[in-house]
Amino acid sequence: MPAVTEAARDPAERVQELRRQIRHHDRLYYELDAPEIPDADYDALVRELRALEDEYPDLRTPDSPTQRVGGAPSPAFAPVMHRVPMMSLDNAFDEAELQAWGARLQRRLTELGDGQRVHFVCELKIDGVAISLRYEHGELVQAATRGDGRVGEDVTANARVVRDIPDRLEGAPPVLEVRGEIYMPISVFERINKAQVEAGQRTYANPRNTAAGSLRQKDPSVTATRELSFWSYQLGEVQGGPAFATHHETLAWLRDLGFPVNPEITVLDDLPAVYEFCQRWEANRHSLPYEIDGVVVKVDELNVRDQLGSTSKAPRWAIAYKFPPEERTTLLKDIMVSIGRTGRATPFAVLEPVFVGGSTVGLATLHNEDQVREKDVRPGDIVIVRKAGEVIPEVVGPVLADRPKGLRRWTFPKRCPVCGTELVRLYGEADRRCPNEQCPARVAGAIEHFASRGAMDIEGLGEQRVRLFQQLGMVHDVADVYHLDYERLRSLEGFGDVSVANLRNAIEASKSRPLANLLVGLNIRHLGPAGAEALARHFGHLDRLLDASVEEIASVEGIGPVIAESVHEWFTNPANRRIVEKLRAAGVNFEGPRVEQAPQTLAGMSVVVTGTLANYSRERAEEVIKAHGGKAPGSVSTKTTALVVGEGPGAAKLTKARELGVPILDEAGFEHLLATGELP
Ligand code: IVH
Repeated sequence: MPAVTEAARDPAERVQELRRQIRHHDRLYYELDAPEIPDADYDALVRELRALEDEYPDLRTPDSPTQRVGGAPSPAFAPVMHRVPMMSLDNAFDEAELQAWGARLQRRLTELGDGQRVHFVCELKIDGVAISLRYEHGELVQAATRGDGRVGEDVTANARVVRDIPDRLEGAPPVLEVRGEIYMPISVFERINKAQVEAGQRTYANPRNTAAGSLRQKDPSVTATRELSFWSYQLGEVQGGPAFATHHETLAWLRDLGFPVNPEITVLDDLPAVYEFCQRWEANRHSLPYEIDGVVVKVDELNVRDQLGSTSKAPRWAIAYKFPPEERTTLLKDIMVSIGRTGRATPFAVLEPVFVGGSTVGLATLHNEDQVREKDVRPGDIVIVRKAGEVIPEVVGPVLADRPKGLRRWTFPKRCPVCGTELVRLYGEADRRCPNEQCPARVAGAIEHFASRGAMDIEGLGEQRVRLFQQLGMVHDVADVYHLDYERLRSLEGFGDVSVANLRNAIEASKSRPLANLLVGLNIRHLGPAGAEALARHFGHLDRLLDASVEEIASVEGIGPVIAESVHEWFTNPANRRIVEKLRAAGVNFEGPRVEQAPQTLAGMSVVVTGTLANYSRERAEEVIKAHGGKAPGSVSTKTTALVVGEGPGAAKLTKARELGVPILDEAGFEHLLATGELP
């Protein structure tokens, strides 16, 4: 069954097909808690059906999924008749649809002759399961799922073990139904999945399905281990309660009764402010400890709600603004393997481009060999692609129901796709590697890494340029960066005088980076920034490290035996020695900070540096201050001993120092202070 929408041939036929698909997915989602396709794909099916029914009203039937809510209640749970139906919400997928809803609202109000201005309550749309809690004389007597909106499932025993749900209320009316969302906090979901992995069991797909599955357990003690949470957001049947004029008053009352009410709920005056709220939460959704998939906008005035009423499925006084999807399905065209700077072979998916997580994704990571095997994704599959926030896009898994017949399992290539060397997988490692240090992919990765921010920080030398220079035979190792033929560069397309000069300046400036940065840039396996810093401080010069024994390297605090072995091996390799000599010849800094030797002249002092000094980079000046026992904070305060001022100082620091009477030193004064510990 295709999960992606298809152009209609015969509308009646297409309507039938869409209904069949939607019913199938409803059953998987509502009854089995195991959807096959992402919500966004499901929404697309419903939208297509609704559009066809709008265009051909004769095709609309009362049993169409567009006229109903949710799924049929499961016979495994006793049925519960909702005295006030549990409705669904209409969706708005962009600003225009939100405004169209606002316009419909206004039109109806005008028709009703009501000139009253309305306010909007904006609530986060919690990605969980709707529940209705019935209290009689303050006692929780029944909890029910939404089911099809009229009849739900009795999950009272399970709701009783959800800690956020009060068993008993003080000061409640004789009958009170509170509705809201049961959800699973992300931390709980992650913990449960970790336990599944440790037990060798299948992991759960997402917090929503896990929450739904946990709520519909036969055994409440299982539900209890799942640590579900609850937000209340709506009233159902109420007998004898106080009369409220607005929705926000009912929420405040619920909070006073002891129900959790989401703290982000906000009352706003108009739709532009509502849209701003939606955008803000779209950008910040991942800062929350639970998942949301949109914003629910509700008219605040309850008398206006009554006037607006509902359709068969959803109230007219509310709309769900849905965020762009973070999961979509698309065709997996191929699986390829990329080789990184350490030789690691990473499989990645080549996809039919799809708009997901706010951008169009054509490639997605598959992490490693075991993950491809576990997910069993095959070229030709329809796969679920996920891109959440800043996280890199990944393939979640295949939609098995859509798998074409005869698709072969994908197998990891035996040889490096770039240099043809046989790939190796060491015992206990998750990755295969290309062992050929001269592999062009590894060399390019190593040069990119050398130029990257945490290493030699060469602006303008990114992936594309490195690959270009490599193709042109201009770079074969990291040291070649310092032997570029700039005349030749100028003759290349896309390289004007200015861009060549900028690149040249950036490369020249990188020669004076601290030794730790150089060590990071050399791409020595297992050696990270902290280890590089420790080595630079301990040895003080690259030459001393070059000839150090494994034992001596391992004696440095913060360097374990694995790093020591790897560093020693790197420096004893003749090819690497040649690179070191090329770097030396180019004038790259090999000196490290020498903490041990510096006299502690600045002990107890705090020295702030601003502007550019002739003999010290900013980092170097701060290092020297610290090496002499002083502190080097980023701003001036009453505790500052002196402000050292170079070319182009920061106005704020200078003014503050003058205000507070902090002594101001030039570079000569700074050196005097370093040498003597006395202000000049
Ligand atoms: S109000 C008649 N408020 O979204 C109004 N629903 O797509 C009924 N949901 O069935 C719902 N957060 O399961 C409302 N703050 C919120 C919500 C919310 C999540 C869910 C709820 C509902 C579904 C509709």
